[in-house]
Amino acid sequence: MSEKIVYLNGSYVPIEQATISVMDRGFLFGDGVYEVVPVFANKLLRPDEHLSRLQNSLDRIGLSNPNLNADWLKIFSDLLDKNSGDDRAIYLQISRGPYVKRDLSANQDCVPTVFAMVLQVVPPDIDVLSAGISVVTVEDFRWNACDIKSTSLVANVMLKQQAAQADVEDAILIKDGCVTEGTASNVFVIKEGVVITPPTSRQLLPGITRDLVIEIAKNNAIVVEQREIKEAELFSADEIWMTSSTREIAPVIKLNDKAVGAGVAGSVWKRMMDLYQQYKQELRNT
Ligand code: PDD
Repeated sequence: MSEKIVYLNGSYVPIEQATISVMDRGFLFGDGVYEVVPVFANKLLRPDEHLSRLQNSLDRIGLSNPNLNADWLKIFSDLLDKNSGDDRAIYLQISRGPYVKRDLSANQDCVPTVFAMVLQVVPPDIDVLSAGISVVTVEDFRWNACDIKSTSLVANVMLKQQAAQADVEDAILIKDGCVTEGTASNVFVIKEGVVITPPTSRQLLPGITRDLVIEIAKNNAIVVEQREIKEAELFSADEIWMTSSTREIAPVIKLNDKAVGAGVAGSVWKRMMDLYQQYKQELRNT
């Protein structure tokens, strides 16, 4: 099983044979949405939550869901069977499909392009993760619809380029003096044992890892606040974390070249990371 098999519009084909029209609106306009669902030992992490966020993204762009949830789950499980690996992720994307004219108007006759594949995710090694990451703050110039998991990601690419130019791993995005999220992750600040993250809004993606971290914290008597975080609070934080499906919980040890807290992964992060690994292990064993 060395060949990568992907799903495209109802068929399972080797990736080299998966082709779409240059008139696809996903290609021309980034007119589509996507999801990334982590998989541990063939168990999907929070599939219902990912599919419900997918539904929200589709609703927001006015595209009907081409599949029932049960059909999606069948596609995911077929893809996992047809490809090898242990810890990985399902990537799925739906575009509005091809149309004869390059026309911004979304023609109702368009047939969506439905694509899914298995991503080989290397689960973050705990020693590598605990070394932490360095980030910079950058202005969040994105649109007022960041709750849509849209394939129009050029702004995120540009923001990530700004991080690369500063020679750091990532950027924390600031809008109107407040933290929104990372280029592909949510942001948490820890101050005096309290775990703080911005509330969901149109300024950020409602991360599934974000929700899981909040849930785990609450179940373990760690106080959580969902409220605005002022940019200045980043610089007095004891800890900063960035969370996503593929990155899990990354501790930020340096911000704009200054140490965050003690400049090493903090004690609340260590506790949360243990609890998160425990959650993953339980999922693997189900
Ligand atoms: N990105 N915010 C943005 C802008 C993201 O792109 C992501 C995830 C998140 C975290 O969401 P979750 O916890 O559900 O992964 C927040 C995925 C991993 C990606 O684009 O590859």
